Amino acid sequence: LHKSKVTVVGSGNWGSVASKLIASNTLRLSSFHDEVRMWVFEETLPSGEKLTDVINRTNENVKYLPGIKLGKNVVADPDLENAVKDANMLVFVTPHQFMEGICKRLVGKVNGDVEAISLIKGMEVKREGPCMISTLISEQLGVSCCVLMGANIANEIAVEKFSEATVGYRDNREIAEKWVQLFSTPYFMVTAVQDVEGVELCGTLKNVVAIAAGFVDGLEMGNNTKAAIMRIGLREMRAFSKLLFSSVKDSTFFESCGVADLITTCLGGRNRKVAEAFAKNEGKRSFDDLEAEMLQGQKLQGVSTAREVYEVLSHRGWLELFPLFATVHEICVGHLPPSAIVEYSERKPRLS
Ligand code: NAD
Ligand code: 13P
Repeated sequence: LHKSKVTVVGSGNWGSVASKLIASNTLRLSSFHDEVRMWVFEETLPSGEKLTDVINRTNENVKYLPGIKLGKNVVADPDLENAVKDANMLVFVTPHQFMEGICKRLVGKVNGDVEAISLIKGMEVKREGPCMISTLISEQLGVSCCVLMGANIANEIAVEKFSEATVGYRDNREIAEKWVQLFSTPYFMVTAVQDVEGVELCGTLKNVVAIAAGFVDGLEMGNNTKAAIMRIGLREMRAFSKLLFSSVKDSTFFESCGVADLITTCLGGRNRKVAEAFAKNEGKRSFDDLEAEMLQGQKLQGVSTAREVYEVLSHRGWLELFPLFATVHEICVGHLPPSAIVEYSERKPRLS
């Protein structure tokens, strides 16, 4: 029997939890090798020790997921090429801004028969237009790439609280089922849908709406306003996704990756939290500053995604159609005050 070998590329907050989930399953399922290799972007801790050494000694990612045992079969590896060289299943889970560089380093370094999945919420904007991270991975590495997104605040899954997730696949149902198997646990319920772009865009765009929700919280505008922002945001998410890819299905927005992720991120995510602080400070402290102070090395995706979405909107002449997305970016860069998040009278959303 050919056993699959899994490598996780990334070891932040979600990357560590994903490794823990996977490692519990590779021990249980005979179709996988027990060991899960986790590539770590190496850093030196205040103690002087290397993060990788500490993870391998204590079985904990003391910086990005303190207090949680990852499973003894998780092996941290600071060498990217070495970490991927024997793998036939690659799980990508880094902040999206680092993926272009990582893919460049991996060209020609992965196995011919490798399958990939991206847990990364974000996109790249190139001269030719927007490029989803799963597409970047597929094109650069010549592999097929599924996605997994959902209402998945990592710290809650780390302590095994029940949640759901959605795998998006293009055409190979069998491979999608294998990913579902690798991630599913009694507390993590995974469903596959044939809509890779829809699933990935849900995960990506909800971070922009979460920034808007954070502004509303910072300005203490209340629950009705926040619900309105979430509804308008969901509508813009759907419209934007369908304009980019006509194949995107409405039903995807009712999966965990859609409305459920939008809700959890607007209630309890990092994007919401930092945007709240930004609004409380009336935009006088930059997002970069607040991110460094409040997240201690973890990374926000919503601010850069808002900029990337804005670039697409302005290139295509769609700014008027997406007042919420456009306003979030304009507030983030200081062109508008946080209170502009509800000033829609002149810029009423025109989409049905
Ligand atoms: P994180 O924000 O916790 O951590 C940042 C990571 O980036 C660390 O592992 C750090 O070592 C690494 N890093 C820093 N500089 C780097 C560089 N130059 N090159 C490569 N890596 C570098 O990461 P995360 O929470 O695992 O997020 C990864 C992805 O997962 C994101 O797209 C995020 O949206 C998504 N996600 C996160 C959560 C969550 O709750 N944390 C949940 C679902 C999805
Ligand atoms: P934040 O990055 O805003 O914490 O969102 C996490 C997430 O994607 C939950 O599904």
